[in-house]
Amino acid sequence: MKTIRDFNPKDKTILVRVDYNVPLKDQKVESDLRIRASLPTINYLLENGAKKIILISHLGRPKGQENPDFSLAPVAKTLENLLKTPVFFHPLPKDNEKIKIPENTKITLLENLRFNPGEETNSQDFIKNIVDSINADIFVQDGFAVVHRAHASTDAIKNFLPVYAGLLLEKEVKNLQKAMENPEHPVVLVIGGAKVEDKQPLIDKFTNIADYILVGGKIAADGYKSTDSKIIVATDFDEDSEGHKLDIGPISTAEFVKNLADAKTIIWNGCLGKTEDPAYATSSSIIADIIGKNKSATTIICGGDTTGFVENYIKTHKDLDYTLISTGGGAALEFLLGKDLPGLNF
Ligand code: 3PG
Repeated sequence: MKTIRDFNPKDKTILVRVDYNVPLKDQKVESDLRIRASLPTINYLLENGAKKIILISHLGRPKGQENPDFSLAPVAKTLENLLKTPVFFHPLPKDNEKIKIPENTKITLLENLRFNPGEETNSQDFIKNIVDSINADIFVQDGFAVVHRAHASTDAIKNFLPVYAGLLLEKEVKNLQKAMENPEHPVVLVIGGAKVEDKQPLIDKFTNIADYILVGGKIAADGYKSTDSKIIVATDFDEDSEGHKLDIGPISTAEFVKNLADAKTIIWNGCLGKTEDPAYATSSSIIADIIGKNKSATTIICGGDTTGFVENYIKTHKDLDYTLISTGGGAALEFLLGKDLPGLNF
């Protein structure tokens, strides 16, 4: 995969696909993980003399209609604060409208691509108009979280510009690929979450890769069973007053910790309890600690709920560190399942 280190950005106009599909509340960014994750690429391009950087992204599912609730304007503000550089925010051009960027503007963020139906229908015309109207020289794909979609900004775009991977995309792909194809053993997969139908394919895929698969969360509480000796399912649970099993209990947590102690590759997908309630975040906190302190292993956190939990946990546990807190929910899962991802096909 060619990356941004394989071309000279000097004096180039560079179109960069990022994934700024972030949670908003009252027009404010609630989690800036994906925005922070895009900074290394933007800074690299700036430091290496790029003339203009035009960032493109979607946010939510506005179904091809303009909708202020899905505007990327709050993201432009957060990005500006993080970069400490002005970010020019430009509306999405209608069909043949042109984009007008002021002369000395280095960084532009374009409004939500999904305000135009052409994004999701993978329209050549839609993306070509953007490419032509900014006179782009290069396309950088850095929106790892959206590479599983065959959309105009992940797929059709490849017909119009040379494509290079950004540093986030490279980091995600390198680490996930290593975990699947060439992992250091012991490999431990920790699975939690609620829906067995979402997790079973991952368990199946890793049966041949992992040394242990530790299963907690609602799946275990609902009675998940396996005859495979490498699959260890939680057996004790913390319950509320009505007998709902809302976290895995101390015996299972200790068993999980024991199996994680010597691991050299760890992938964690799915919280082990109902972590929205601090009373049931105990096992997930212990597992976040043990994984985050294991500096000799490749440690990967993936899945929206798990990364959200860990991002929050490390705010008050600064000593913890992970090889990769993946920005890709669906994309990371599809990558781990070995699916062909349109946005990576270049
Ligand atoms: C995500 O958050 O998983 C990506 O941004 C993709 O969003 P989508 O599921 O709406 O295509």
